Amino acid sequence: MKIAILEGDGIGPEVMREALKVLDIVEKKTKVESEKNFGYIGGEAYDRFGTPFPEETKKICRNADAVLLGCVGGPKWDALPPESKPEIGGLLALRKFLNLYANLRPIKIYDSLKSLSPLKESKISNIDLITVRELSYGIYYGKPKGIDNEKGFDTMIYDKETVERIARVAFEIAKNRRKMVTSVDKANVLRSSMYWRSIVTKISKDYPDVLLNHMYVDNAAMQLIINPSQFDVILTTNMFGDILSDESAALVGSLGMLPSASLGNTNLYEPAGGSAPDIAGKNIANPIAQILSLAMMLELSFDMIDAARKIESAVEFVIKEGYRTRDLPGNPSKILSTSQMGDVICKKLEDIW
Ligand code: IPM
Ligand code: MN
Repeated sequence: MKIAILEGDGIGPEVMREALKVLDIVEKKTKVESEKNFGYIGGEAYDRFGTPFPEETKKICRNADAVLLGCVGGPKWDALPPESKPEIGGLLALRKFLNLYANLRPIKIYDSLKSLSPLKESKISNIDLITVRELSYGIYYGKPKGIDNEKGFDTMIYDKETVERIARVAFEIAKNRRKMVTSVDKANVLRSSMYWRSIVTKISKDYPDVLLNHMYVDNAAMQLIINPSQFDVILTTNMFGDILSDESAALVGSLGMLPSASLGNTNLYEPAGGSAPDIAGKNIANPIAQILSLAMMLELSFDMIDAARKIESAVEFVIKEGYRTRDLPGNPSKILSTSQMGDVICKKLEDIW
């Protein structure tokens, strides 16, 4: 396993450290060894090399079988020109560089964390959904875009190939789940959405076993609160997926628990939450999203399904036993630091292996 490790900014380095401890155990148990190459991305890279996505990092990513990313960005770099910002010049450039067209964000309910949800328990008990977010086009990348003293503008554009490809990902995933795809758009107003809808409908003909329905994004935002268990696979654009995946993460309590996988020329795995600059360096962040992103990497890039399930079980056990980081309410005597949480997960993983 040749893995590019990009810790990034904010809490990235400290949560990555815990994921790498978990990886060490996996390597010990499976006798599969990894070659890890570390690269800089985002604000840290900008500070060192004057660019948020240095050549050296490109090389490391190009040569890797998979990329494990922490997170990028922070107030320190907010005033930089757009192309130098960690989010745009770093993360978005990296996504484009690896041609990451599909971002998968599965939502999982932990029984012992149900009280965390802002919704009533009865509403969330059956939540089992995954967002399939188009990641390399749409308004994030469409040209023309620009900003000057008079105006700022972006272009939302979707072409046939892009929509077909992401739609197929969603339908394929649905085949192995509850066989429902909800395509989310704004086709009552946006041309790009009208086009999106027509192509998704066309592709759905190749998947007669999967039920497709279309939903406007404003309604989807509401339905996620009113009746989240109606969703199986949410297929949507870059921008809408960004928004709705945060909303669905909030349904189950904390962004600190949400992993993601991005499929492309080389797959990339990253927590869905941000760099949390306010708590960075304090050893209090929740490392679970990073650890679960590692599990997704082992499963999807290296076919180590058993190892992935074991990591997920270890996390589940530890949560069940009441261990918490600060973002998760619980018994104060069981609040752990980032590194302690990593340690108990590692210990549990060794126990159950
Ligand atoms: C995410 C993040 C990024 C995005 C930011 C950091 C650019 O919010 O991965 O959801 O908008 O895609
Ligand atoms: Mn986001």
